Amino acid sequence: QKTLKEAYKDYFPIGVAVAPRNLSGPEAELIVKQFSSVTPENAMKMGPIHPEPGRYNWQDADAIVAFAQKNGMKVRGHTLCWHNQTPKWFFTDDEGKQVSREVLLDRLKEHINNVVGRYKGKIYAWDVVNEAVPDTSSSIYRESKFFQIIGEDYIEKAFEFAHAADPDAQLFYNDYNTESALKREKIFRLLKKLKEKNVPVHGVGLQGHWSVYEPTAAELEKSITQFAGLGLVVQITELDVSVHPKEHERRQKKPTDSAMLTPEMTARQTAQYKMLFDVFRKHKGTLTGVTFWNVSDKSTWLDNFPVMGRKDYPLLFDQTYHPKPAYFQVTDF
Ligand code: XIL
Repeated sequence: QKTLKEAYKDYFPIGVAVAPRNLSGPEAELIVKQFSSVTPENAMKMGPIHPEPGRYNWQDADAIVAFAQKNGMKVRGHTLCWHNQTPKWFFTDDEGKQVSREVLLDRLKEHINNVVGRYKGKIYAWDVVNEAVPDTSSSIYRESKFFQIIGEDYIEKAFEFAHAADPDAQLFYNDYNTESALKREKIFRLLKKLKEKNVPVHGVGLQGHWSVYEPTAAELEKSITQFAGLGLVVQITELDVSVHPKEHERRQKKPTDSAMLTPEMTARQTAQYKMLFDVFRKHKGTLTGVTFWNVSDKSTWLDNFPVMGRKDYPLLFDQTYHPKPAYFQVTDF
């Protein structure tokens, strides 16, 4: 039986999101055996790494990068500019008043310069801007503090700052729901504008927080080929396949809305994972990385999202770290 990284060595690195607590014991063993890349799940986000003005907390991020280097794994950096997990101080002055465009741009520049600079040459790809496009409104731009205070050019500035700090790093725009027609179109327009302005953007990250019901192969392929048409590479940056219905279906109380993993859920998930990796392999060359968001079903961020306390089973390894049926489909082709 091939491991994930063996099965995909001629295709793309297979990554996993990690926290420092994953880096010892049985999870560490599984990570080293199966994966060829890591992404810090939270450690490099603005809040955790830059909790106060002038104070950086490098400990967790350093530990993850050191673990990867020791084990010959690649590192994806995540993330430099996001509306979530960013401390309030970033947008306010000493008196609690909102800062000006100039001050916020200076802070963003300093932050990106310090974080990217510290890991220069050790992180091959960065999610520079995360989730800047809203799901439903007709606007391309999410009404985040960055957008409100700086304006739409905060995005290109973030890419420019990152490129200046490490000219060799591949720079990504990263988002979820990239297979919905409306959002795909808006992300496409954003990326097209950036490319036309020669902004140093090299790739687009499809987060890949999917479920056993979506996306379809056709929707996924449309996103990959449309973004690739702009001369960008594509990576799947946060893959998981929830066994639960999407929220709008959940509200209609579908029978699958159960806390237990049923045989039907497992069968659907196995088929979904097979479909996804069939598409990924087909786009070899354009698709340059696939990263899972967490190690095993023992603990996943979906256990509390979007429904507090509801268990999910979205990964290839079960709660005792054993491969699930989907694993065999994905590694045997
Ligand atoms: C999630 C982490 O997995 C959680 O531990 C944290 O509490 C919230 O963020 N999109 C992203 C990721 O880009 O950074 C998010 O990670 C999941 C959604």
